[in-house]
Amino acid sequence: MPFDVPADGHDLVVVANRLPVDVSLDESGEPTWSRSPGGLVTALAPVMANAEGAWVGWGGSPGLELDPFVDEGMRLVPVMLTEQDMERYYEGFANDTLWPLYHDVIAPPQFHRQWWDAYRKVNRRFAEAAAGQAARGGTVWVHDYQLQLVPAFLRELRPDLRIGYFHHIPFPPLEIFAQLPWRKQVVEGLLGADLIGFQRAGDAANFVRVVRRLTDLTARGQVVTVGEGTPQQRHVRAAAFPISIDSHAFDQLARTPEVQTRAKEIRTELGDPEVLLLGVDRLDYTKGIRHRIKAYGELLEDGRLSPTETTLVQVASPSRENVGAYQQLRDDVELLVGRINGDYGQVGHAPVQYLHQSFPMEEMAALYLAADVMLVTALRDGMNLVAKEYVAARSDDRGALVLSEFTGAADELVGSVLVNPHDIDGMKDAITYAVHMDPRESRKRMRRLRRRVLGHDVAAWSHEFLSALTSVPVRDTTGDAPGDDA
Ligand code: G6P
Repeated sequence: MPFDVPADGHDLVVVANRLPVDVSLDESGEPTWSRSPGGLVTALAPVMANAEGAWVGWGGSPGLELDPFVDEGMRLVPVMLTEQDMERYYEGFANDTLWPLYHDVIAPPQFHRQWWDAYRKVNRRFAEAAAGQAARGGTVWVHDYQLQLVPAFLRELRPDLRIGYFHHIPFPPLEIFAQLPWRKQVVEGLLGADLIGFQRAGDAANFVRVVRRLTDLTARGQVVTVGEGTPQQRHVRAAAFPISIDSHAFDQLARTPEVQTRAKEIRTELGDPEVLLLGVDRLDYTKGIRHRIKAYGELLEDGRLSPTETTLVQVASPSRENVGAYQQLRDDVELLVGRINGDYGQVGHAPVQYLHQSFPMEEMAALYLAADVMLVTALRDGMNLVAKEYVAARSDDRGALVLSEFTGAADELVGSVLVNPHDIDGMKDAITYAVHMDPRESRKRMRRLRRRVLGHDVAAWSHEFLSALTSVPVRDTTGDAPGDDA
């Protein structure tokens, strides 16, 4: 189906499930915008602010048809999702099928054919919106598991484009991925891209193995050949590009007098505990919040940590609240927190400060600075940017990071205390070790961590990905009606 190339198209188009801003309607029915949640937005906002690009995504509110508009130098193109799309595509296929499947089936994935149909339909809508924004020969960068079919749809609509895809979450081993009834269609969707980026080398290797076993295509090392021997022959590269944060901005923020003062205030408000432990997560079953709180509760019970001198602050920001597994998790976590505070609390002191809220970056930076030990104990996580934020905030070279080996960050963050969160005894030992760590050792570790986080920021990440994408040769389709060369 030929698609008109827009005359005023953009050389760079980002396509992600969410726009960098969320819409809400004020009393007069006028849309107002606020920054939307999630690591992806944090990662890409600084990159896009510098490029005169377009960002195609959902505005965060169902049923609203909104016109494109310009914000901070970038064109924002809202894609409409109906209430039913929300249920079937977003809460259903993306977050109750793919999310649990790709995270080691920690929760059982649900397979429903109606959800799959909605996922295809919505992916098609995103691809059409992107096709309508990109200049001839332009670059389109598609993001994450919600949009795995967009690369192939887009290639069909606009064969002139250079298409990149980045997968922010883990890519599972073949044995797990193969459960997906639509596994072949998903692989073919992704192979519409020229470059497929993953967080870890292991994710890219999983993907290439899936291609070898589920298709007849040839894969040599990182490169898969599509349409071999035909005029449409192309090479698709699958490789690791570990994402990062705007580390320097975060470092600067944490150095401001306001944040420094606030960090001290937080400790005072908590009653000046000797030891302050911190967990910061979206309230998600992949994050190992239950395992972490269980280990903490046992340390109090064993007397290895003093219930009166220790506080665990657990920030759990609300997430995907219409999905059953998230509702169950919230109940489980809140029961556990209540038990520990009931058993070990005193008037005026609760050993767990549980905050089911989201906070602005300034408050997060102050919390990171206030904490003696940061606990990142995910059961599976593509990268985990919280670990990197904690490190970026610690220009005092103090603090210790307890980090799950099942995060992408564990590949890079040498200097953290690595744990297997399934091993509660091992985690208890690691937390105790981090709490009592010799200050010289913790300084040495933190310096090493900071060298990595400050030396590889989100700008380096996007630069590496986009340069690799630019070096992919693109067929000249000038003069052809796009889509005509099949
Ligand atoms: C993860 C995903 C992102 C997603 C974010 C927030 O980081 O990789 O794609 O945007 O979670 O989740 P939400 O469902 O609220 O967009």
